[in-house]
Amino acid sequence: MFDTLRNHQKSIAHRRFETLFDAPDTPDRAQDFSAQMGDLVLDYSKTNIDSAARDLLIDLLTQTGVAEKRDAMFAGALINETETRAVLHTALRNLDGGPVHVDGQDVMPDILETLDRMAAFAEVVRDGSYMGAGGKITDVINIGIGGSDLGPAMAVKALAPYADGPRCHFVSNVDPSDIAGVLRVCDPATTLVIVASKTFTTIETMTNARTAMAWMSDLVGNPGHQFAALSTAADKTGAFGIAPERVFGFEDWVGGRYSMWGPIGLSLMIAIGPDAFRAFLRGGQAMDRHFCAADWQENLPAMLALVGIWHNQVCDYATRAVLPYDNNLLRLPAYLQQLEMESNGKGVSMDGADLPVQSGPVVWGEPGTNGQHAFYQLIHQGTRVIPCEFLVAARGHEDDLHHQHQLLVANCLAQSEALMKGRDLEQARAKVADKFTGEELERQAHHRVFPGNRPSTTLAYPLLDPFMLGQIIALYEHRVFVEGVVLGLNSYDQWGVELGKELATALQPIVEGADASGKDGSTANLVAMLRKNGL
Ligand code: F6P
Repeated sequence: MFDTLRNHQKSIAHRRFETLFDAPDTPDRAQDFSAQMGDLVLDYSKTNIDSAARDLLIDLLTQTGVAEKRDAMFAGALINETETRAVLHTALRNLDGGPVHVDGQDVMPDILETLDRMAAFAEVVRDGSYMGAGGKITDVINIGIGGSDLGPAMAVKALAPYADGPRCHFVSNVDPSDIAGVLRVCDPATTLVIVASKTFTTIETMTNARTAMAWMSDLVGNPGHQFAALSTAADKTGAFGIAPERVFGFEDWVGGRYSMWGPIGLSLMIAIGPDAFRAFLRGGQAMDRHFCAADWQENLPAMLALVGIWHNQVCDYATRAVLPYDNNLLRLPAYLQQLEMESNGKGVSMDGADLPVQSGPVVWGEPGTNGQHAFYQLIHQGTRVIPCEFLVAARGHEDDLHHQHQLLVANCLAQSEALMKGRDLEQARAKVADKFTGEELERQAHHRVFPGNRPSTTLAYPLLDPFMLGQIIALYEHRVFVEGVVLGLNSYDQWGVELGKELATALQPIVEGADASGKDGSTANLVAMLRKNGL
């Protein structure tokens, strides 16, 4: 399936893609190699993708039945085949889209009722009529991990300019330093603890939840009153001591890493208020509609996925850097690591055979301009090509500091330009000709050469408000879906995280003192060394 694409790629691999901007068949390349939804623009013109490559990439969508599978997903079919589940996080943001059926039953009434219950609870927490033992709630601690942490933590930071509720903290790691650091700055009498766990069995979350309960019990008469739960497991939340009126449930057809649109988003809703939270949902819903309706070439999720496939499976670039020039998107790379790598990091095809192509890429990144002073050296001059995905807003929220925002934007655009153009030896010589001569000039000049021809995309938008964040997150979700379908794998299970969990459970008694001799030599040796030092 990829052979024709790979042959085409080989035939154009050495071309300087900046020359494509002068190609007679695409006089307006920047426009032609962009896709737009409202005022959200994806520019992929700074890549080596030409019209022939794009046509071949779009053929992949037809060959793998992306449109049919997309429609099946939205219709509630059991597309998560290894867990026999529907994939319907889109229903959580289907505010006015009509019924959605699973097993012949419309799931929308329950979803909308839960959303209303969340909004009512968020309101009373925010306005102070729901009180802790010491009065109005000042702090909210979300205890969860993976999808029950990364989404809301990312969004609370992303929408910080809209936050007017209690302070939100996030505890995820079983490392006691995580929860200890948060408990130290909170007053148990005015803190609400949200235990966020789809299964309500995840060991890190349940351990931290018990620690928080003990912390509160020492100082507050009725600690359960200041706990809420977000879970699919109502029996387990009750056993933990959380009253049903503060349990917000969802169904198993919402995957953990896709769950921030429903109850798992409660901390975000408390931070920014129900209206802003609904605007976030509407942004996601708008992207769903675009994904279902737009022609492939105009379709942002489809084109973003195809650019990813071009770079990862066709060009064989193993990683993808996500570089938001928007500091509020500080946690976006971490969020996308789970979304993309837990979804498409699979070596098995849907039919159980080995995956015949590379699985999804390694995703990493940091906001600009910080990354420029850390790892961009390697992106510009290292021996591996790293496709970069820039995100940039036209405006920030600090109107009085707009000149500083302009400097941020200049840096973003400069980086993608530098990656594309590079600097050749002649230009490098000119840079240092006043300082060196002869052989030393040559040596010094070589160190200053930038190869260029390094691809990037840019996602540009007016302002990171709740609606825009909803659009952007839904864009990435659908991009993962399209990549998964084209690669022929199941994006919605995560069997690869099980083995470590099982072995951790088996190791627990050993780190507590049981005999380690049945373990491999390295593990037994490490246990012995740690014991000697106080384990
Ligand atoms: O790490 C595996 C995983 O199942 C993730 O997919 C999930 O987001 C996370 O654990 C947390 O699970 P839960 O919400 O059930 O605690």
